[in-house]
Amino acid sequence: MTTETGSAIEVRTATDDDWPHIVKLDSFSFGTHIVPLKASITRELAPNAHVLVATIGGQVVGVTMHYELQITVPGGALIDLPGISWVSVAATHRRRGILRTMLAEQHRRFTDAGAPMAVLTASEGGIYGRFGYGPITTEFTHKLDRRFAEFRDSAVDPGGVRLLTKEEAEQAVPAIYDRWRRQHAGALGRPAAFWRGVFADPEEGRNGASALFFLLHDDGYVSYRVRTGESMSIEVADFFAVTPGAYIALWRTLCGLDLMQTITVSDAPDALLPYLLKNPRLPQLTGSYDLLWARILDFAGVLRARSYASEIDVVLEITDDFLGQGGVFRLTSEGNGANAKCERADELPRLRISAGDLASVYFGEHRALSLAQAGRIWVPETDLLEQFDRAFATTAAPRGGMFF
Ligand SMILES: CC(C)(COP(=O)(O)OP(=O)(O)OC[C@H]1O[C@@H](n2cnc3c(N)ncnc32)[C@H](O)[C@@H]1OP(=O)(O)O)[C@@H](O)C(=O)NCCC(=O)NCCS
Repeated sequence: MTTETGSAIEVRTATDDDWPHIVKLDSFSFGTHIVPLKASITRELAPNAHVLVATIGGQVVGVTMHYELQITVPGGALIDLPGISWVSVAATHRRRGILRTMLAEQHRRFTDAGAPMAVLTASEGGIYGRFGYGPITTEFTHKLDRRFAEFRDSAVDPGGVRLLTKEEAEQAVPAIYDRWRRQHAGALGRPAAFWRGVFADPEEGRNGASALFFLLHDDGYVSYRVRTGESMSIEVADFFAVTPGAYIALWRTLCGLDLMQTITVSDAPDALLPYLLKNPRLPQLTGSYDLLWARILDFAGVLRARSYASEIDVVLEITDDFLGQGGVFRLTSEGNGANAKCERADELPRLRISAGDLASVYFGEHRALSLAQAGRIWVPETDLLEQFDRAFATTAAPRGGMFF
């Protein structure tokens, strides 16, 4: 491909020599100086074969890469998939189609390798829809004034929380996270190199707050930082509980940290916290964030992989402007965890949905009903829309678990 100015864009696999340029490019693009530890962890997560650079006249002007990850889908099946990261184009060469050219090549390679789906965390909400991605999780950030946190009698404290040093946490925490992520649709397995970064906990990653503190329960853990200003406040980094008992015990311990004023935490939309407190208004919603975006590549395979909440029999057309891999498929399932069937079909579709909206509906966070009301799903039969919406609904909100 050539740019508007006539120079050819070459997209190729990275070499060792490209790395200083890649690090410089991403430092400028994300406005943060990438320290050697971060670069070395990234290189472990993404060997050169998984890194693409775009060059113009031999100069590196763009980069994209992927890590090998695993996601849990509704019903508990695990899917290996690429997680895209470090996407950037030099500010000197923007809006000339370099990102589009890189992603076209990257997704061609994913398809050739048989990847069923790809995920990423998006820096901006307006970029990835055109490439067939849809947001699949939402995390709500709450802030509460710990000094006024009173628990209801029904939130009985199961106890069992221990205060851990980082060295102790390193032995215990990854296994608990792994149990948690297998239970939650949307959650990603964290590779060993990712954990190396967590426990290295470099000063540059703390944004002026303390090193990490860890609270451990047999079925959950919390890591947090303390920010000291006029008062001391807690900023939770990880809060993952496998059981409601662990969740309650960890919250009670956090709220027992007497000298702290506020606690800020990001959690699932259906988190239990407000139901535990005498004053459910105490946790104030301060923000929400679409942590993960997904792009389905093997539509039939991915639709077969999840379980459906109720019976479904639909001939749907999936539109895929970016890769042209859409078409008409028949999806059937008896619901209640039964195996689903899905194949390409030579039939008239009764529902049309884009690849990105299908990904959003697939993980249960976004409802087909709402997308149809917004004019994004074409489905003339109300009964079919209701059936589709019911079948894709999930009992728990999906959560990503990992920013990358
Ligand atoms: C985002 C970024 C990679 C785009 O690179 P680029 O080479 O300018 O993008 P392209 O010219 O290939 O644009 C491809 C399409 O995306 C659109 N697009 C690009 N950046 C966009 C943005 N920030 N918001 C909305 N749309 C955007 C373009 O308009 C174009 O649309 P079209 O092809 O449908 O007409 C680049 O601006 C960048 O490095 N930003 C800072 C780092 C960052 O945010 N990276 C993404 C991390 S998830």
